[in-house]
Amino acid sequence: MNPGLTFCHPYPFEKLAQLKHGINPPTNKRHIAMSIGEPTHPTPEFIQNAMFEHIGGLGTYPTTKGILELRKAIADWLSIRFNIPAAAIDPETQVLPVSGTREALFSIAQCVIDPAEKPIVIMPNPFYQIYEGAAFLAGAEPYFLNTTEATDYLPDFASVPDDIWQRCRLIYICSPGNPSGAVMSQASMEHLIGLAEKYDFIIASDECYSELYDDENDPPVGLLQTAYAMGNTAFKRCIVFHSLSKRSNAPGLRSGFVAGDADILKPYFQYRTYQGCAMPLPTQHASIRAWQDEAHVIENRALYRAKFAAFINILSDVCDIQKPAASFYVWLKVPISDDLQGERECGKLPGATAAEKFAQQLFAHENITVLPGSYLSREFDGINPGQNHVRIALVAPLAECIEAAHRIKNFITTLN
Ligand SMILES: Cc1ncc(COP(=O)(O)O)c(C=O)c1O
Repeated sequence: MNPGLTFCHPYPFEKLAQLKHGINPPTNKRHIAMSIGEPTHPTPEFIQNAMFEHIGGLGTYPTTKGILELRKAIADWLSIRFNIPAAAIDPETQVLPVSGTREALFSIAQCVIDPAEKPIVIMPNPFYQIYEGAAFLAGAEPYFLNTTEATDYLPDFASVPDDIWQRCRLIYICSPGNPSGAVMSQASMEHLIGLAEKYDFIIASDECYSELYDDENDPPVGLLQTAYAMGNTAFKRCIVFHSLSKRSNAPGLRSGFVAGDADILKPYFQYRTYQGCAMPLPTQHASIRAWQDEAHVIENRALYRAKFAAFINILSDVCDIQKPAASFYVWLKVPISDDLQGERECGKLPGATAAEKFAQQLFAHENITVLPGSYLSREFDGINPGQNHVRIALVAPLAECIEAAHRIKNFITTLN
């Protein structure tokens, strides 16, 4: 067995199922699911139609590299969205389609890590759990960057000691962040690219929430855009991960891409030919249409904006709730009284975090499921940045989000 498996934690949703086990929520309140980051707005019909139109493609083995038309559509999208000259992104050597970013975020570590070097993989904390599992299974040691209220929920690269940078081979960044929705500044990305040049490591920038932002005039900056603006026009040491799952409400399409440094993508392409994750042709054609259309993405943002406005408006007088710059998550600091934190027992989980207690009791009283932040974070440097937060995904329709906000408000009011 791969020894890294012994370090891998159960997935957050397994822990959540355990937390809810044996609890009978009120039957007169229908369940509202706010724990999983699965978009529920309908997948646009034109994307579905493209899939049907090319269904005959199921008769052919797709190639790992994908069709040129798809890679061109992706390169064009990147160029327009991130203000990079079209000629600067070569669809032949700098773009690879992937079957959703999850598998790619995992496999990139397997490709670029040499376990013999005692490597370190740096990642934010809390984080998308794939980063950590990818590091362990590649034979690397994870190093966490706590993202807390004090750091505006963003990684503080200046806090990393020199000897850690020396051993770092790969860093995952996530902007906009899951779970906080915080967006890294261009200056911070520049700083990181400078460090990557100095210490020679790879930056894997998970930008899968980049299209769900609040301010239409201020889209989140991307890593390739930053690299190009700094004069790193070949995107050395930089790769980005983008997905249609959140942008185009197509999580079941399993479509995304990796783009950036051709010197990384070349061996990664070779790795992928063995991994065998080629994207089916109908999916490639549906993806081309999706990347070529922005109208549905603008509509999608408007739907989330309305939900954030209503949700936050209802809850703002009972808790400290902030609208994130991007994503569809509220990263809520749990307004728990000492009573709930200390004396009331949390199901069968003595020693539960405030986040777990809040999530469990909210389910028990209001039949709403949210995700304890501690399931997305680890204790590092004496801090567990998720222990007093819950992640609330505003993926349900507006009316359900409004109903959830009223019930959460009711729950918080009874706590106090
Ligand atoms: C931060 C982050 N990265 C990547 C993914 C993977 O998305 P997909 O595999 O659908 O592209 C998710 C999914 O929830 C995510 O939250």
